[in-house]
Amino acid sequence: MDWGMKNRFSQIIKPEDGRCVMLAVDHGYFLGPTERLENPRETIRPLLNLADSLMLTRGVLRSSVTPESNTPIVLRVSGGSSIIGEDLSKETITTSIDEAIRLNASCLALSIFVGSKYEYQTLKNLAKLVNEGEKYGIPVLAVTAVGKEMARDARYLGLACRIAAELGAHIIKTYHCVDFRKVVDGCPVPVIIAGGKKLAERDALQLTYNAITDGASGVDMGRNIWQSDNPVAMIKAVRKIVHENFTAQQAYDHYLDLIGLKNTIRKGTSART
Ligand code: 5RP
Repeated sequence: MDWGMKNRFSQIIKPEDGRCVMLAVDHGYFLGPTERLENPRETIRPLLNLADSLMLTRGVLRSSVTPESNTPIVLRVSGGSSIIGEDLSKETITTSIDEAIRLNASCLALSIFVGSKYEYQTLKNLAKLVNEGEKYGIPVLAVTAVGKEMARDARYLGLACRIAAELGAHIIKTYHCVDFRKVVDGCPVPVIIAGGKKLAERDALQLTYNAITDGASGVDMGRNIWQSDNPVAMIKAVRKIVHENFTAQQAYDHYLDLIGLKNTIRKGTSART
């Protein structure tokens, strides 16, 4: 890697431990005003300094994040379809490389839809973006988006991750699954996981722990952080697993401690391990 590429990459995947806690707030690009992300400025503000990096579109970056922030930006540059449109997989590159440079992006993010009607188009988007990123030393995060018809199993996710890496993506975001280790082993670049739909905090921490234990380099998590009633405590607990090798239970205890409930919950659920 050239110096600029290495420097930006190390802003995303921390060189001290090879891990990352990326906060995803890009959901509005196809979902509109997602619950608890209706006002992105308010959602992002308390979490900004607790995330290793922030994943979002240029619109939300410009309108809702202070330019004085030092948190590295992962700029979502694909889109063009909505949840009520013809087909979510019909994406194009929405943001130019000039714009990404102007916004001082540390990484570019784009979705691919392997196996979908628009597979070819989204893979072509990825290849084009990697060419542009390589020219200017900006890494690319490929998001393996999963349509309703796609199984979230190791075979499918392993295929999608490997194709993204072969096309030159520097980091891949996918979903945790049974036999996730096979997905990681078949992919020559770091794999991070999305959190998915909101779970109970204990379950989201277990998912994080399982992914890290199975070889993930970190998380790109959204709803399980900012849809929690205690987003700050939740991101701090996730950080403990990713960067300090806490178990899920230790991280949950930490979460309860931060919200002042540790003793109450422990007494009430003494059988929990
Ligand atoms: C949507 C995305 C989201 O950023 C991703 O799904 C992470 O968010 P969550 O943890 O809420 O699933 O890339 O395409």
